[in-house]
Amino acid sequence: MKRQTLENPSDTSLSRVDGAVKVTGRATYSAEYAVPELVHAVLVTSTIAKGSITTIESREAEAVPGVLAVISHLNAITVPGWPPKKQPAERMPVGTAFRVFYDPLIYFDGQPVAMVVAGTREQAVHAASLVRVTYQKETHQTHFEKNIHQSGIAQNVQRSKNSPFQDYERGDAGALANADVKIEAEYTIPTQHHQPLEPHAIIAIWEAEDKLTVYDKNQGVKSAQGQLAQAFKVPRENVQVVATYIGGAFGSGIRVWPHTMAAVMAAKQLKRPVKLVLGREQMFTSVGYRPYNKQKISIGAGKDGRLAGIIHEGTGQTSMYEEHLERTVLASRALYASPHVATRYRLLPLDVGTPTWMRGPGDATGTFALESAMDELAYALKMDPLEFRLKNYAESDPERNLPWSAKSLRECYELGAEKIGWKNRLREPRSVKRNGMLLGYGMASSLYGFHRHPSKARAVMHADGSVTVQSATMDIGPGTGTAMMRIVSKVLGLNAKKIRFELGHSALPDAPGQNGSSTIPSVGSAVHAACEALKGKLIGLAREMPRGTGQEWSGVVRNGQVLGSGDDKEGISYADILKHHHLNELEVTEESKSGAERDQYSMYSFGCHFVEVEVDPLTCEVRVTRVVTCADVGAIINYKTARSQSIGGIVGGIGMALMEHSAMDHRFGRYVTTDFAGYHIPVNADVPPIEVYYIDKPDMQANPIGSKGLGEIAIVGVAGAIANAVFHATGKRVRELPITPEKLI
Ligand code: MOS
Repeated sequence: MKRQTLENPSDTSLSRVDGAVKVTGRATYSAEYAVPELVHAVLVTSTIAKGSITTIESREAEAVPGVLAVISHLNAITVPGWPPKKQPAERMPVGTAFRVFYDPLIYFDGQPVAMVVAGTREQAVHAASLVRVTYQKETHQTHFEKNIHQSGIAQNVQRSKNSPFQDYERGDAGALANADVKIEAEYTIPTQHHQPLEPHAIIAIWEAEDKLTVYDKNQGVKSAQGQLAQAFKVPRENVQVVATYIGGAFGSGIRVWPHTMAAVMAAKQLKRPVKLVLGREQMFTSVGYRPYNKQKISIGAGKDGRLAGIIHEGTGQTSMYEEHLERTVLASRALYASPHVATRYRLLPLDVGTPTWMRGPGDATGTFALESAMDELAYALKMDPLEFRLKNYAESDPERNLPWSAKSLRECYELGAEKIGWKNRLREPRSVKRNGMLLGYGMASSLYGFHRHPSKARAVMHADGSVTVQSATMDIGPGTGTAMMRIVSKVLGLNAKKIRFELGHSALPDAPGQNGSSTIPSVGSAVHAACEALKGKLIGLAREMPRGTGQEWSGVVRNGQVLGSGDDKEGISYADILKHHHLNELEVTEESKSGAERDQYSMYSFGCHFVEVEVDPLTCEVRVTRVVTCADVGAIINYKTARSQSIGGIVGGIGMALMEHSAMDHRFGRYVTTDFAGYHIPVNADVPPIEVYYIDKPDMQANPIGSKGLGEIAIVGVAGAIANAVFHATGKRVRELPITPEKLI
């Protein structure tokens, strides 16, 4: 196989600043902090999907040497932020976050029902196996297909008129009925579970009665801080959450889950620091998942290839106690210039844990259906799928009737098509073989909304002219620190060696969690603002210094110096400016947020994927043999790490399209694919050369750095592109993921 190469040899981007500490094992992850007096917790989880606990027999477990406690609803401390318990226990009303060890009720299989705490993990694991729980079982409903008739509009949506999940319609409903060519089809995506390398893990330490420190794998230290402070009714600043290094996350770390609460409760109860690491099988029941869903699309066009209408309906699975809403049908409103669009979104509550966001939540799901349908309609029209998309290119946002802040999707299509050699493809499905394999090409468009949240950053110039920039942002893998250093370096004219970026600690300046592809747009803008302010101060201080040349200081900075003019070779170094003014440090904190531009423009990231597949005509095994992806996400801050993000998204998309499927045994309401033997994700041999291109045109309406989100658009559309390539190779349209051989035979 060919080695992947950087497409742009003149690229000057930084290598991952924490790459060396990560690969040499010097990075400390949440479970790895050396804490004195640390004890180990292991969860005992339910073996029924619905009912209630009748007894917990823990004497045998308690007798195991080293065991300190077996904690359950029978003896757990009262969490002050939770409502008083009801006697008898009542099922949680919809909209309630699950409360661990609160009452005997069971809502899903794998629910934590007890926790053993012991001196070593081995003792705790052994003792946990000895805890006997008996239940009063009730009939559970976990089968999506059998219960879909029970789905309905979320209560939350019924209450909120402005919810984007309300039913939507524009244009003339009759247009679709009268379209020259129409298709209608159903699409199914099964439950998928996030499986980052590092499982969720926490060390909880109560430093005092009202003072908590947690080392916790999550995607937002500030939001975890807020949630824990609220639950334990302690002042926010008394809770510190540390998550410096994260071994990957795709959305499972956005909220505080029951296992985190359980560890914090146990630490309080036992007055000892408690460590809890989820086992891989618990990663399938404890931290959410991409919900099972079904979609239906009716779509039609005139003979000229102009869309007449799209009706997109979607239903997603949720738990009995929370409503998890996703953008499943929303892409259909904005991606194409269809005069008529109607969308409907429903939820199906089942006796399962609550789903959560998983990379490209809703959009990755919805574009699988939409882009499959667009492809199918193009074939029905006898039109090239790319030409069909160009015919329906939305020059402005057809949903909000606003101009795009920027959109270079056309350029993405052109570049991607050129690189994959789209024009050479024969249109007829199942018409080309290569080395005995059926060869196919498919493409799909993608979009992802723009999220920019208020963010703060602090920049501190030190006496030696180096700078430390801080923000309570996160790095779950994309290389946040590396990209931020790039921004600092550019604004301050400073070599990366003189820059330090600190993140992942709740004591740092307020920043959103790493989700919704919002980090660079939000925190990057704050870092930019802080560095601009610092630069302004430095220039101001330089102006007050005696100047040999007599000229005005222009505001140009380079090589850690303020220059008199852009032509100057030498100026005054930052270190000299601080020294002259007897300053040990120079510090600024700035906040950055969106303004009126959000009402004037519609903002999205855009992109497209082109995929080549080979399908074995005998075994029907699908191999993705080439991917070309092109995105318009505004300015690219650091190409090298951006490219890694795109590759990661494509790999996730290959998993979604061909492998990932959490299978449930509905007799028990239990997932049975809870390890990597049963739950397949792509390995290196499944991943072909991936060519990554960006338009790299700053979107200056979006923010001062002109950069939009990249992390999620990387996966959005990939499954559709692969399904379309499989159709082209085989002539078979698979509308149910994953595309496994038996669906092609
Ligand atoms: Mo992403 S699903 O917002 O981690």
